[in-house]
Amino acid sequence: MYKSISCGDLRAAHVGQTVTLAGWVHRRRDHGGVAFLDLRDRAGVVQVVANPETSPQAHASAEAARPEWVLQVEGVVRRRPAGMENAHLPTGEVEVEARSVRVLNAARTPPFPINEETEVEEMTRLKYRYLDLRRERMRGNIELRYRMVKFIRDYLDARGFWEIETPILFKTTPEGARDYLVPSRVYPGEVYALPQSPQQLKQLLMVAGVERYFQIARCFRDEDQRGDRQPEFTQLDLEMSFIEREDIMELAEGLFTALVEALVPGKRLLHKPWPRFTYAEAMERFGKDNPDIRFGLELKDISDMAAGCGFQVFEKAVASGGAVRGLNAKGCGSYSRKEIDELTQYVSGFGARGLAYLAVEASGEHRSTFAKFLTPEWTAGLLKRMQAEPGDLLLFVADKPSVVFEALGRLRAHLGDRLNLRDPNVLAFCWVIDFPYVTWNADEKRWDPSHHLFTSPVPADVPLLDSDPGAARGQQYDMVLNDYEVGGGSIRIHDRALQEKVFELIGLDHDVAQERFGHMLEAFEYGTPPHGGIAPGIDRLCMILAGEPNIREVIAFPKNQAARDVMAGAPSPVEPGQLRELHLKVQD
Ligand code: AMO
Ligand code: AMP
Repeated sequence: MYKSISCGDLRAAHVGQTVTLAGWVHRRRDHGGVAFLDLRDRAGVVQVVANPETSPQAHASAEAARPEWVLQVEGVVRRRPAGMENAHLPTGEVEVEARSVRVLNAARTPPFPINEETEVEEMTRLKYRYLDLRRERMRGNIELRYRMVKFIRDYLDARGFWEIETPILFKTTPEGARDYLVPSRVYPGEVYALPQSPQQLKQLLMVAGVERYFQIARCFRDEDQRGDRQPEFTQLDLEMSFIEREDIMELAEGLFTALVEALVPGKRLLHKPWPRFTYAEAMERFGKDNPDIRFGLELKDISDMAAGCGFQVFEKAVASGGAVRGLNAKGCGSYSRKEIDELTQYVSGFGARGLAYLAVEASGEHRSTFAKFLTPEWTAGLLKRMQAEPGDLLLFVADKPSVVFEALGRLRAHLGDRLNLRDPNVLAFCWVIDFPYVTWNADEKRWDPSHHLFTSPVPADVPLLDSDPGAARGQQYDMVLNDYEVGGGSIRIHDRALQEKVFELIGLDHDVAQERFGHMLEAFEYGTPPHGGIAPGIDRLCMILAGEPNIREVIAFPKNQAARDVMAGAPSPVEPGQLRELHLKVQD
């Protein structure tokens, strides 16, 4: 072994011991002819001192060394002189007096400093990811991710789960995105699809009698990139037999509560147990189905008050089947016209045609674009409904319900940021349940599954699939943390007839369904246990626990926002010979 102990592990207890260290030069400086090196390895940094009088060789090598050179150092651990201790460093009480310093590898000057957390352009960080990963922030994130996965494995192992690998080269497993395809060399014109999730395979494992399965599963989805999305990402994929919705929710809640308490003790879990909202309630109160419940500013419906109120915008919206909702921005009553214009601009980006406001000044006076149309009685009723006090700002959107929710949901989150209401040290988990089973796709004129096509409807709502599909609820549950959907799951259909009915409802042609999912339908005929599961996203969870703004920060080698690997250069052009072998021709 090149080292007898890690740099970062040295403590006062080691004083007097001779040790061999190996690591990178973190910093180097000279003081009165003596060379000081901070030597770094994965465990941390320790100070090495090379004195020309006692050890000329060590001193000469130490003096020649530059940041990021790789050295092996042999020396004696000693207590730092009184007053020279560094309380910020775990190894700060000691230093190593070098007897020999051996250069294992020199290094070019890195494109950005490794030894300080300066802002570096992301493109450069991704190109030199192997250097970026040496930095403390990344090292910490990658370690946290490892600890999460280890915790999950231990927790599930103790509860009788088996970890089982499923194929990457498979057939389309639709989760609503485009597939990545792998052309077959052996079968001209045929392809494998990379799984968007192991959904079908885990259900088939339930048919196979596994009963409790999990996998730290890689999923592939060709979709637009965002801060919380990558083309390949990792799920804790999980499935159980002979269970109901409650059992899966209890398991996931127990697991992630224990996990955050063990791994991020510095963060406060806002609710235990986690609150539950029906989809309708989440929309009604927060305007979105992945609400941030760290703060209030909840939406209020005033549609019932709109008819005959005198303000045409409100009246017309409701008369044409729309809604009027608003929120009370507490304490923003003194916002200037310009600030309110900025908020109006913000919601217009989400389809709102305007933002009606009523500011209640500290004096109790009103400032509003629309109050002039209203009677004092009506306005008093509005203030009461909105629980307005002097100093508050009431903001309203009138439109189709979908636009109202989108605009106000975004506005609420925006105000949460602006007013510093989203405490990064608070973790607010919640569940969202009772989603509509299907949603109407107006472009394609068909019903789309809200979750995926293997989700079971709520049993009592099965008759609605014929009479009023939009009113049926699905046995779906989403796990939400702060502002993100961090997991989704459902109880599955385990009956061939019901599965076929659902295929029909969502407009899957009988032959197409047979060709794509015949293996599932057939499996359901051989004794399928009732089953269900969930798939929390490891990247998103890790991002939130690490307090990072995007998931690239918790993935060792992520793609950039344009879905490229800029380090190795992928995707990359393909050799004509390879294309020929795959029976492919590129057409432009
Ligand atoms: P779903 O599609 O809701 O469910 O995905 C589950 C979770 O996976 C994470 N996730 C992503 N993370 C990063 N980048 C992406 N592109 C991305 N897409 C999804 C999210 C999401 O909540 N098979 C079902 C699960 C089931 O029913 O058991 C599924 O994949 O955290
Ligand atoms: P207008 O009648 O278009 O001059 O608008 C009067 C006020 O109502 C302005 O403050 C607009 O921002 C606001 N407004 C217009 N349309 C809407 C709408 N759909 N929802 C909420 N406020 C609106």
